Amino acid sequence: ASASEEKDLIIIGGGVAGYVAAIKAGQEGMKVACIEKRGTLGGTCLNVGCIPSKSLLNNSHLYHQILHDSKHRGIEVGEVKLNLENFMKAKETAVSGLTKGVEFLLKKNGAEYIKGTGSFINENEIKVALNDGGESVIRGKNILIATGSEATPFPGLHIDEQRVVTSTGAIALQKVPETMTVIGGGIIGLEMASVWSRLGAKVTVVEFLGQIGGPGMDTEISKATQRILKKQGIEFKLNTKVVSGDTTSELVKLDVDAAKGGKPESIDSEVVLVAIGRRPYTQGLGLENIGLELDERGRVIIDSEYRTKIPHIRCIGDATFGPMLAHKAEEEAVAVVEYISKGHGHVNYGCIPSVMYTHPEVAWVGQSEQDLKAQNIPYKIGTFPFSANSRAKTNLDHDGLVKILADPETDRLLGAHIVGPGAGEMIAEATLALEYGASSEDIARTCHAHPTLAEAFKEAAMATYDKAIHF
Ligand code: FAD
Ligand code: NAI
Repeated sequence: ASASEEKDLIIIGGGVAGYVAAIKAGQEGMKVACIEKRGTLGGTCLNVGCIPSKSLLNNSHLYHQILHDSKHRGIEVGEVKLNLENFMKAKETAVSGLTKGVEFLLKKNGAEYIKGTGSFINENEIKVALNDGGESVIRGKNILIATGSEATPFPGLHIDEQRVVTSTGAIALQKVPETMTVIGGGIIGLEMASVWSRLGAKVTVVEFLGQIGGPGMDTEISKATQRILKKQGIEFKLNTKVVSGDTTSELVKLDVDAAKGGKPESIDSEVVLVAIGRRPYTQGLGLENIGLELDERGRVIIDSEYRTKIPHIRCIGDATFGPMLAHKAEEEAVAVVEYISKGHGHVNYGCIPSVMYTHPEVAWVGQSEQDLKAQNIPYKIGTFPFSANSRAKTNLDHDGLVKILADPETDRLLGAHIVGPGAGEMIAEATLALEYGASSEDIARTCHAHPTLAEAFKEAAMATYDKAIHF
């Protein structure tokens, strides 16, 4: 790229937000360049987030099942050994295959991929410090900030990614620690606690709030999930705040204070995972050169069309408002390009599913019971336990329930909350129903194949206005 060349769109950041926008812009016939400094496309999600964590979750679940869940299925196995090096290689194979796939897709759609760090010179020019050395300047009619997020550090606890780790270190440990303490019982905390607990670590999760699962999880589902995870061997300390940490001894020491009147104590562990949330990443972007402001949480301020106060500079994904989820970033990427090329785009923020990939999975969409209560919105509830679902019973995997919330007058679906096997796939059906404004009766009168886990979803819907058949 050279200064004389002007792009229709320059994207800074090649994560899910940035690379999807690059592909979409290419498809729309725009001259587009995507700048990424990491060396590979896919951002946090593909490189150190969604994908590697799911590889570890899937394979640690298999390992744990073979060890502890095969005998009563009539399967006797010989010696079972974990080869952590190959376990990590399986993860790396998944990651590298997918990041290369994304690079191919950019090329296929005519989007230029520039390896380097981008920063604003002014409102139309971006300087790129190239990874291979040297610098270039590109001009853009439109510029999209898609620089993502980073782990929020814990004050006073130095992160070395070996003993005190963020999720990035936690997906790459070289040995199974004997003990692990997780600060923060949100999604990252619980997914990583599951991985290392299954592989043999004694894991304790310390959570500041009175419930696990992070923001948005329905309280009843959160409690059920906690019971299930506790049965799997994960220990929880709720309403407990980590006050300080000390890394000078062989074990990392955390001082914790029970938030509600309990007594202070200290916890020693081999590895500490800091998982207290993520924060937008805009360092080194040169926002000061164009006078762009951030809100109090470091998010780039935008309007409903993703425009900053400089209308041709927009922002999507983790760097701005909304849930920090890959599929949210992807929806915004398509919408923002449509705004630029056609003048209109759309994302339904009331209808973005969340999935926690523990076993069983936890998934939800729409409003939780506590959300509805807080807004004084009337609702009726239908629930159905997986212990009454024939497929879950057959699979000897029937912990959990489906909970449906519907409008008492119109029967319109307000929220669906699932903890149970296959919840992450089942939530797609709930999301479609919510998006199309279905009533719970619409769901319940839709024929579901037998025997499937999804019948639990149908029967929970039935239970909101009538009785479930199998419970
Ligand atoms: P990012 O993916 O963070 O991408 C931003 C990119 O911009 C980065 O690659 C960065 O290197 C680059 N960049 C930044 N500044 C510059 C610059 N100046 N110049 C050039 N490049 C720059 N979400 C889900 O939906 N499902 C999951 O299962 C899931 N699992 C997760 C597991 C973990 C451990 C973590 C940490 C996150 C997970 N997430 C998951 C969240 C998901 O990863 C993010 O929501 C998603 O990656 C956001 O995409 P993004 O493109 O906005 O930002
Ligand atoms: P989170 O916001 O989900 O959870 C953080 C938890 O830490 C909260 O429950 C909070 O109360 C607690 N906490 C904060 N400070 C604390 C303290 N001092 N002591 C004890 N507890 C404390 O954030 P998390 O888990 O770090 O994940 C970050 C983001 O990544 C999330 O927004 C999530 O959307 C995304 N993500 C999504 C995944 C998925 O979709 N499956 C998987 C992993 C991450």
